[in-house]
Amino acid sequence: MSSLLFQGGTIVAGDRTTKDDILLRDGAIEEIDRFVEEYDAVDDISGKWVFPGLADCHVHFREPGFPEKETMKSGALAARAGGVTLCCDMPNTDPPTVTTEAFADKVRRAQSVTDGALRFFFGVREAAHLEELAHLLADDTKEGRHLRAHLCGVKIYLDHSTGNQRVDPALLDAVFAFCAAHELTLVAHCEDPEINAQSALQNTRMNIAAHSLIRPSYSEMSAIKTVLALAKTHGTHLHIAHLSTEGGVGLIRAAKAEGIAVTCEVATHHLFLSTDDYERLGALIKVNPPIRSPKHRTALWQGIKDGVIDCIVTDHAPHTLAEKNVAEPLQAPGGIPGVETMLPLLLSVAAGKWPHPAEPHVSCPPFTYEDIVRLCVVNPNRIFHLGVSEIEEDKAVDLVIVDPAKQWTIRGAELRTQCGWTPYEGWMVQGKVERVIRRKEDVGRRTKD
Ligand code: DOR
Ligand code: ZN
Repeated sequence: MSSLLFQGGTIVAGDRTTKDDILLRDGAIEEIDRFVEEYDAVDDISGKWVFPGLADCHVHFREPGFPEKETMKSGALAARAGGVTLCCDMPNTDPPTVTTEAFADKVRRAQSVTDGALRFFFGVREAAHLEELAHLLADDTKEGRHLRAHLCGVKIYLDHSTGNQRVDPALLDAVFAFCAAHELTLVAHCEDPEINAQSALQNTRMNIAAHSLIRPSYSEMSAIKTVLALAKTHGTHLHIAHLSTEGGVGLIRAAKAEGIAVTCEVATHHLFLSTDDYERLGALIKVNPPIRSPKHRTALWQGIKDGVIDCIVTDHAPHTLAEKNVAEPLQAPGGIPGVETMLPLLLSVAAGKWPHPAEPHVSCPPFTYEDIVRLCVVNPNRIFHLGVSEIEEDKAVDLVIVDPAKQWTIRGAELRTQCGWTPYEGWMVQGKVERVIRRKEDVGRRTKD
């Protein structure tokens, strides 16, 4: 097999950045060194930075059900263009991924996707779904093992969101016990249904900003308290999805200090947008949990800095512009696309440039290139057993070659996502993905058995 040397680049790892060359042979990294002596071909990447392919552990690729919003193919293509080469897809498709049959259908569809790897969450709303999952886990045939290699965890919604997948509250104990027994990571969308219902009744405003009041910050906190108590009782590995509030960061900080097995993620839109953006962007930034005021955003960046937040995700949730532009904005579906824009936004902050065009006064939060690898590769891999890694010898790793100095403007029309728009339209960012070299994939959920 011939070998290819990537020469002159800088390799970014979770804890260090080094100037080293990378020798690839047969889709795997044979050698990392400053003076590789033997190679068949050379590719000069002087001045460029090399990241491992990012793993986004929260996307909605809409297949099956809504191909006009996204498909696995269009989603993976968009992800790849943004340096993301593994995506974990959520179960609120049509049909929802709550049966073995629906799960197997997704795995089958994923087989023809070549731009990135896909893993799937199994959704649970009622007892029958847990039985389906038990069936999948017990299937010891080759097919059963193949399906399980694509399973990244279980997802529950504490309140309804797009797709109406709210879990039966009477089932919560059973779900936590089940996931603990099977060593599955349980991801929870944390909003309190009673608080949300009450706030909706009390709301008198008709403008889109009311969405952040209808699903208030204390709703997230209340739901987080509920699931933390369950995780503590059952010893479940709980992962809080798209954490959006200052209070939520505090609760998870305290739970971690107490030794509860909890991890959490934050979505890019909660890190870069705030309620100040409603006036400009309206229903485009309607999302559940909602965009919050700037003080929450600051607390999320602080949570990243002090290690409370484990992962950054896109929560890529595309809807068509027609759906977003309905006459009554509060009726528009919640969800924001972002799988292609996460890395450029994060690279900008790592370069010390806050990219929000209407916020020249906001100073850049402390954040490094190594943080990107820690939060978007190392930690998602640890939490969801994805079989990806940093750039290391003897590993097959997707390589993302980035020009860290390149400034460019985000344009929705140029993005690959099927939905064709972005809330970051016109934002000037620094750092561009130039090329992605895909590894030979070895799908496998790394478990103890
Ligand atoms: O705003 C949201 N959109 N929140 C969710 O939980 C689901 C997502 C979607 O699928 O559109
Ligand atoms: Zn989501």
